[in-house]
Amino acid sequence: MHVNILIVDDDLKIADLLKIHFMSLSDELHCKTVTSCTIALEMLSAESFDIVVADYRMPDLSGIEFFRRVTSYNPEIVKILFSGFSDLSSLEDEMTKADIAYFISKPWQLAQLRIMLNSAIKLISRARTLRALEETLRDRDRQIIKLDEYIRRNLEAEIASLGEILEQSSRPLARHCRRVAVLTAQTASRMNLSPAQMDTLQLASLCHDFGLALMPEHLRTTPEAYLSGPDQKNYRNHPQTAVRILRGLDGFNAAMELVALHHENFDGSGYLGLKGDNLPIEARILRLCDYYDEETQFNGQAHQDLLRFMKTQSGKIFDPAVLEVFESFMNKAR
Ligand SMILES: [Fe+2]
Ligand SMILES: [Fe+2]
Repeated sequence: MHVNILIVDDDLKIADLLKIHFMSLSDELHCKTVTSCTIALEMLSAESFDIVVADYRMPDLSGIEFFRRVTSYNPEIVKILFSGFSDLSSLEDEMTKADIAYFISKPWQLAQLRIMLNSAIKLISRARTLRALEETLRDRDRQIIKLDEYIRRNLEAEIASLGEILEQSSRPLARHCRRVAVLTAQTASRMNLSPAQMDTLQLASLCHDFGLALMPEHLRTTPEAYLSGPDQKNYRNHPQTAVRILRGLDGFNAAMELVALHHENFDGSGYLGLKGDNLPIEARILRLCDYYDEETQFNGQAHQDLLRFMKTQSGKIFDPAVLEVFESFMNKAR
């Protein structure tokens, strides 16, 4: 492993001797020497070093102060202080503050240098592995973001195509889906849903009645309350028909579940009989907004009359918490 070492001592003979000793320990150690802290700091800003060795007493800066500045260039550089002191205890505090990893007392023993360098190289190797790992993770994050963008673009194209099909099949139905998407977004944004939940709810709102696009005209234009027999059965299949349309498309899995549940009532009296907390909050929001839009836009209900009726259905058709939020912002908007 290639390791770059910078040796700083105002006595060039000592610096060179240390360099010779270091390089005798391994071919992979590459040393440069310098006789002033100021020049050493300039070199550190221009070149990459793994280890910096500096004398405690330097004319321009103390070794401790020098190392503090080294940390600001690169906190990962392994710092080795050497000094004529043999008593480390008086330097311990300062060494900790300056993040100095090792201490060499003059005169040094070659064996002492070898042990210290092996330990320093292990630290450097670990730091490099960590950096490589971090870079790999960053790479993966970048790939995930790209993939997300790709999926989103695909999804948007698919929504646009489906919207076009719905528009061709029934303009009122296409508009209904878009209005429901606006209402669900307004409701959900007041109910602390996560961005992922909001996205799924938007998708489900835009697609929830796709199943009706494939049904005969009279099923789309007659309120469900006036349907019976096979017509009612057919009509009630429209959430499952929409699920079949969406099943083959990328990115619609979570939305499909909400589409399948968009006629479920809070008390379990809906098409499939799921109720209460067994229904995702997004499905409860979609149920209410869908109902409101159908009644006001297709069945001629006035806003206040409809809200009065909807309140009688709190805990029955509608989740009381969703109804409360919906009523509050709709009344403020009027
Ligand atoms: Fe529906
Ligand atoms: Fe609908």
